Amino acid sequence: AGLNTAAVAKGLLYFGSATDNPELTDSAYLTQLSNRDDFGQITPGNSQKWDATEPTQNTFSFTKGDVIADLASTNGQKLRCHNLVWHSQLPSWVSSGTWTNATLIAAMKNHITNVVTHYKGKCYAWDVVNEALNEDGSYRSSIFYTTIGEAYLPIAFAAAAAADPSVKLYYNDYNIESPGSKSTGAQKIVKLVQSYGAKIDGVGLQAHFIVGSTPSKSAQTTNLAAFTALGVEVAYTELDIRMTLPSTAALLAQQSTDYQDTVAACVANAKCVGVTIWDYTDKYSWVPSTFSGQGAACPWDDNLVKKPAYTGILNALGGS
Ligand code: G3I
Repeated sequence: AGLNTAAVAKGLLYFGSATDNPELTDSAYLTQLSNRDDFGQITPGNSQKWDATEPTQNTFSFTKGDVIADLASTNGQKLRCHNLVWHSQLPSWVSSGTWTNATLIAAMKNHITNVVTHYKGKCYAWDVVNEALNEDGSYRSSIFYTTIGEAYLPIAFAAAAAADPSVKLYYNDYNIESPGSKSTGAQKIVKLVQSYGAKIDGVGLQAHFIVGSTPSKSAQTTNLAAFTALGVEVAYTELDIRMTLPSTAALLAQQSTDYQDTVAACVANAKCVGVTIWDYTDKYSWVPSTFSGQGAACPWDDNLVKKPAYTGILNALGGS
């Protein structure tokens, strides 16, 4: 069995991968992405972000996002929708606009209402707010935080819930995968949104890890339990585990262990619904362009050949 088949047999809802529009012209890539034995879920890596969906104010563009949504539908895969409110990949009319509390709330609500309504019934979940925190757990000074204050979070969740009452609403961030200040900050966000009476269903743990310094399975298990104790589900949403190049047999073996530990932590928590890797092949990973000299972060190599990490994931899922 493949990764998704094994995941579902273990009680998860899906095992999935991110993808992006330019890669879909690569037919070998597309064939493997569409293989539901391995991937029961996909996430658009860029094409539902604010710069793509509302490049000028109140003019919406869903063409690229629809390509990924239609692909998921054709393949019988769930779609994780990503994302609505984030400090990065904002069009300049948002990031460099002149805003008051009231005008930015109105623009944010209009964005959320239009995008969520367009994709209504097509998404398993929305990442409503992405990466709101600094490493110490305090709020990042985004245009949203500096203009609106922390209330922008519950306002965003409430607007998403109003537009689609059925879709799962997530807070999504990185470096919240083991106990510490930032994870505690994310738990505070869950409580904040709940305290406003707004709906929050889940926390997405991105899990952009480094080979050899991936949090242990027990640290991750403890951490997931702290979230699910608040009444929300959890998912690993952007898992990849990078290394300093060149890759060696020893690094690939450690990477396999690190993938296995992470997926096993999800399996161990009844409210961890799934794992998404941030693209499945090193050929299209975001890592080398962001971290010079690093890469080989995915379970499939540049030639779309499975690496030891694939077996590590399968082991965690009890498959063979
Ligand atoms: O669209 C332009 C294109 O017109 C231009 O020719 C090209 C030249 O550089 O750039 C294109 O934009 C790039 C965009 O991806 C689309 O390919 C940006 O430069 C590039 O920075 C952007 O990177 C994305 C990154 O988010 C931006 O922060 C990655 O593909 C995407 O995988 C990554 O995903 C994020 C998640 O959304 C949130 N968590 C972290 C994760 C990894 O950074």
